[in-house]
Amino acid sequence: MSKIELIITDNYDEMSQKASEIFIDLLKRKPNAVLGLATGSTPIGLYKKLIEKTKKKEISFKEVITYNLDEYCDIPKNHEQSYFTFMNENFFKHIDIKKINTHIPNGEGNSKFNAENYENDLQKIKIDLQLLGIGSNGHIGFNEPGTDFDIGVHEVQLTENTIKDNARFFNNDINKVPKKAITMGIRNILEADTIILLASGANKAKAIKSVMSGVIDKNVPASALNKHKGKVFVIVDKEAASQI
Ligand code: GLP
Repeated sequence: MSKIELIITDNYDEMSQKASEIFIDLLKRKPNAVLGLATGSTPIGLYKKLIEKTKKKEISFKEVITYNLDEYCDIPKNHEQSYFTFMNENFFKHIDIKKINTHIPNGEGNSKFNAENYENDLQKIKIDLQLLGIGSNGHIGFNEPGTDFDIGVHEVQLTENTIKDNARFFNNDINKVPKKAITMGIRNILEADTIILLASGANKAKAIKSVMSGVIDKNVPASALNKHKGKVFVIVDKEAASQI
């Protein structure tokens, strides 16, 4: 059995609320926290709650430093679906963070060089709280099934499953979805002090079941969280918990 702390909530809003409480608690204790951030539809509710709290001046991101998990390759930074754009539109532009303190892997140009640079940046810091979503195939960041758990930042070829899942952001046209991405490796993710994985909806239920079985399986990248030495919270709604 996994020693992960599983929190099952009634719905998406409650899932976002529980996650926001963990972030708020950290920011109150440590205003200069280092956060690992994620994209996708799942964390949007959490980001909205953190934006509200910032607007009410209950928390501040003035001293916070952030590192994002991943970025598509072969689309420009200012593309409407880049994770750079996602983070600015859904989070950064609404809070009091200094842009210079936000870091997102560079998907433009030479991936090997960009991966090495991001790895070097990560080696200089320690992430206090890493946020994760999960792909329907169990991927975290863009670490697709079969990825070695020991590798750091690297370029990946996205699987057909992920390309199909993400086509909804590209007018449902799989040809428009980038085929490559740059991502933190599982080793980088496991270096964080505390990890929160969020999942909502029945299409995540199978992956969540595998993670919570406690079996560490290369074909379910998120199952690597069972190896983590620090605290791991898996916060899910009822639908995502339906197969546990
Ligand atoms: C993408 C991201 C992941 C994210 C996953 C799930 O592939 N690289 O970090 O967790 O999608 O996305 P969603 O939350 O939209 O289901």
